[in-house]
Amino acid sequence: MRISTEMAKAINDQISYEASSANAYISIGSWCERTGYDGSAAFFFEQAAEENGHMLKLIHYLNGVEAEAIIPAIEKPPGSFESLESTFQFGLKSEQTVTKAIYDLVDMAEKEKDRSTYSFLQ
Ligand SMILES: [Fe+2]
Repeated sequence: MRISTEMAKAINDQISYEASSANAYISIGSWCERTGYDGSAAFFFEQAAEENGHMLKLIHYLNGVEAEAIIPAIEKPPGSFESLESTFQFGLKSEQTVTKAIYDLVDMAEKEKDRSTYSFLQ
């Protein structure tokens, strides 16, 4: 393994955040679709695909550095929402959490002088 055990764990945690985020977006998209907000549904399904893409990148990276990517179980996301506005608030909060986690990973790579992970995260 060409990265530390701690870094592999942190990246696996990130995989889990991206997966939860993708799943939450699918749930929001589904709620929008059945509530008649077709444009928003398309937007959230696209967001889900993006988060899924981030997750796959992390999986490929871990496997590429001979660490093991762990595919996580995901908690059931909320299935209904008070309003269209609340779905966007939920999405924004989720986005902020995942982004902060990425910044923490960058900090960790810097501290560990892990150039491989650092440049991967750029
Ligand atoms: Fe993401």
